[in-house]
Amino acid sequence: APAPSPAPYGLDYATVPPNTDDAVRVPGGYAQNVVVRWGDPILPGAPEFDFDHQTAAAQARQFGYNNDFCGILLLEGPLRRWVLFSNHEYTIEPLMFRDYDAEAPTEEQVRIGLAAHGHSVVEIVRDREGRMTVDVQGPRNRRITGSTEFLLDGPAAGSPLLRTSADPTGTLVLGTFNNCAGGTTPWGTFLSGEENVDQYFANAPADPRLARYGFEPGPSERGWETVERRFDLAQEPNEANRFGWVVEVDPHDPHSRPVKHTALGRFKHEGATIRLSKEGHAVAYMGDDERFDYVYKFVSSATMRKGQSRRAREHNLSLLSDGTLYVARFTGDGAEDGEYDGSGEWIKLAAGSTSFVPGMTAEEVYVFTREAGDKVGATKMDRPEDVEPNPANGHVFLALTNNTDRGKAGKAGPDEANPRADNKHGHVIELVEADDDPTGTSFTWSILLVCGDPADPSTYFGGFDKSQVSPITSPDNLAFDTHGNLWISTDSSQALEQNDGLFGVSLTGETRGRTTQFLSVPIGAETCGPVVTDDFVLVSVQHPGDVDDASPDRPGSHWPDGGSAQPRPAVVNVYREDRGRIGI
Ligand code: FEO
Ligand code: CA
Ligand code: CA
Ligand code: CA
Repeated sequence: APAPSPAPYGLDYATVPPNTDDAVRVPGGYAQNVVVRWGDPILPGAPEFDFDHQTAAAQARQFGYNNDFCGILLLEGPLRRWVLFSNHEYTIEPLMFRDYDAEAPTEEQVRIGLAAHGHSVVEIVRDREGRMTVDVQGPRNRRITGSTEFLLDGPAAGSPLLRTSADPTGTLVLGTFNNCAGGTTPWGTFLSGEENVDQYFANAPADPRLARYGFEPGPSERGWETVERRFDLAQEPNEANRFGWVVEVDPHDPHSRPVKHTALGRFKHEGATIRLSKEGHAVAYMGDDERFDYVYKFVSSATMRKGQSRRAREHNLSLLSDGTLYVARFTGDGAEDGEYDGSGEWIKLAAGSTSFVPGMTAEEVYVFTREAGDKVGATKMDRPEDVEPNPANGHVFLALTNNTDRGKAGKAGPDEANPRADNKHGHVIELVEADDDPTGTSFTWSILLVCGDPADPSTYFGGFDKSQVSPITSPDNLAFDTHGNLWISTDSSQALEQNDGLFGVSLTGETRGRTTQFLSVPIGAETCGPVVTDDFVLVSVQHPGDVDDASPDRPGSHWPDGGSAQPRPAVVNVYREDRGRIGI
């Protein structure tokens, strides 16, 4: 066998082998601690978590359920202190309540579910050993829930398509649901994508525009429509249109009203990540996580102002309110060159009040963005999740999680950008903007990884020796370290009968495509929200114990509390025992 290649800078750690342990596994020499768990108090006076006596009032002051995205901003001060933003994607009531009756949830259970959604903003501190904990007294600490008031802004705000009987202005929405991934902006705010919002609503009227977003007739799974009328689309059809946006939260002002940005379009947003152009335009890259849906970008009209003066901050908070929305078309250059690669085009959909889509007004483009993508012939992708620029060089990486419908009868077949039929394990594309200008309309692209068990001949690891890589499936969230390496967290590694994890990937030189596992998460969990700094790694451990037939009487996991405890989604901090740098 060939001698193993030396580890690239920043990826020098002992590879964690695939496993099915009920634990977070990290490389030898690394330590870990749980920063915050579902139910932990994050506001003064919040009660301690009590699984069997949970209340909505307690939940609204405690960390929510199923944290997904994780973002941090360093704060000034003598201690090492950050503000942490987590979003709470969704609830799993059958794992949250004993004897849960899905046919007849109690009003209090519904209200706990509403309060367990949304966001947590919380200050965290790191001690000398490297452990991180929550400062419950942090002045920025805040819970945003399924009942918090949001402002709709941008070109579709106030549209008749967004008005309801409770909000005739079409500008004020209660709550945010199914926030999946997100982004940390250069101007010091957090973004979060509303993803599978259809599942909260009941009784969708027959309307192709509702169907395109998955809204269905009949009762919803959670039954919230029995408690709040707005979840009944037969009574409030436009309420559906008020979800599916990118939201922005200013963590420095706990009294600020979070915003839903209509200029970034409405779809099943995974997240939004920002690159600044040379002039300072904010370019947001975004994926629509559904089989055969699209990749988008938004380019702001205005440019970012530097500094944290009040005027600069107010200006920057409006950057995502006005600009141009594009969708991507990928064109392959043929298989003859032995590579999956080609060129592409950003197709303009709308800018301000101008639509570029025949037969649709600008308001319709923003509210029914998927339909606009359909009309202009955007490329149908294999579930675009994180779409994120590498700060080292601006190259944009796309996690295409999987798509087992690719090539099925009546569905789109493989193309060069989505080359595998029955794509169980997903792939990763690298996109390079023409002239390195993120505001432009053309790009080139190539596939970096075709995921799976490296023994599977359909896999590809950037041309790197497959005997030296970890099995990886269902790439979901992306991050970059300060050395320019890519980090990938996975969702659904059950496809390879192993727990999900976090993987470091080299992008340059002879080790390009070298993919090695850095950590794994407990049974039933998904790894999300990675943050990789020189000194620590944060991950979200989402839905631990979510396995078939699990219930509070038969937990699928006891992580993180151990013993006979119920599983609790949490943020985990990983650091070097010797306080050295990650991967060095
Ligand atoms: Fe919530 Fe696209 O995963
Ligand atoms: Ca995700
Ligand atoms: Ca080619
Ligand atoms: Ca996912």
